[in-house]
Amino acid sequence: MKHLPLLCIAALMAARPVLAQDTLSGPDAFENIADESQRSAAMFTEIGKVLTNPRCLNCHPVGNSPTQGDDMHPHSPPVVRGDADFGAPGMTCNTCHGPQNVTLTSGEGSIPGHEPWSLAPVSMGWVGKSLAEICTQIKDPERNGGRDLEAIYEHMATDGLVGWGWDPGAGRSPAPGSQDVLGQLTRAWIDTGAVCPG
Ligand code: HEC
Ligand code: HEC
Repeated sequence: MKHLPLLCIAALMAARPVLAQDTLSGPDAFENIADESQRSAAMFTEIGKVLTNPRCLNCHPVGNSPTQGDDMHPHSPPVVRGDADFGAPGMTCNTCHGPQNVTLTSGEGSIPGHEPWSLAPVSMGWVGKSLAEICTQIKDPERNGGRDLEAIYEHMATDGLVGWGWDPGAGRSPAPGSQDVLGQLTRAWIDTGAVCPG
């Protein structure tokens, strides 16, 4: 009996803690916010849990190279975005990144893959920016690839590279929630005025 507390602590430490960052609430969780603008901004903040996850940020840098892993270390080997966000001649992204994830023969880790595979343009870079800045940028057709809000919804809800965030290959943790919930949140955010957090 007197060993029980210690065992409990050991069990708690072994289980991976579920952090708020790991979960994604759907639009229903925001119904109690009466003010529509506040509700909209709160839902974008929830969307932000996905946008600021390393699975997305590693490909949405503001600089010249992608990053890797949950600690977002520099891409190894070093690669640059090049003129088309697709690498330098002879070292394009698809030299190594195939149409799907490839588990390494060692059994540990994988080379991520999807067709297409390239860096998001600089204008869509998110690393180091506040959620308010990211939100304003995502709504701006001058910077978001000429998209209106419906096209942003389509991208969040159906784009394959976004979907890769929940199927990132062996050795990588997925983005919080699911692409389906991300789509529902984006729909509800737009329908409530697409308000950015302050
Ligand atoms: C392999 C790299 C890669 C990954 C991983 C990635 N993206 Fe992107 N993302 C891109 C590229 C490339 C574009 C530009 C595509 C275009 O304009 O057609 C883009 C564009 C976008 C856009 C369009 C609007 C804008 O202003 O950025 C959104 C929204 C977006 N990505 C969301 C995400 C989310 C959410 C994730 C993570 C779940 C993610 N992306 C992961 C490469 C990536
Ligand atoms: C010479 C091979 C090679 C080239 C070229 C290359 N990559 Fe990679 N990349 C890798 C490998 C291998 C990994 C996996 C590393 C790991 O997980 O330890 C990786 C991982 C990544 C990741 C990390 C995903 C995550 O969330 O952890 C991103 C993002 C990425 N590459 C983007 C790119 C982009 C964009 C280009 C082109 C500009 C590119 N890579 C070119 C080999 C390459």
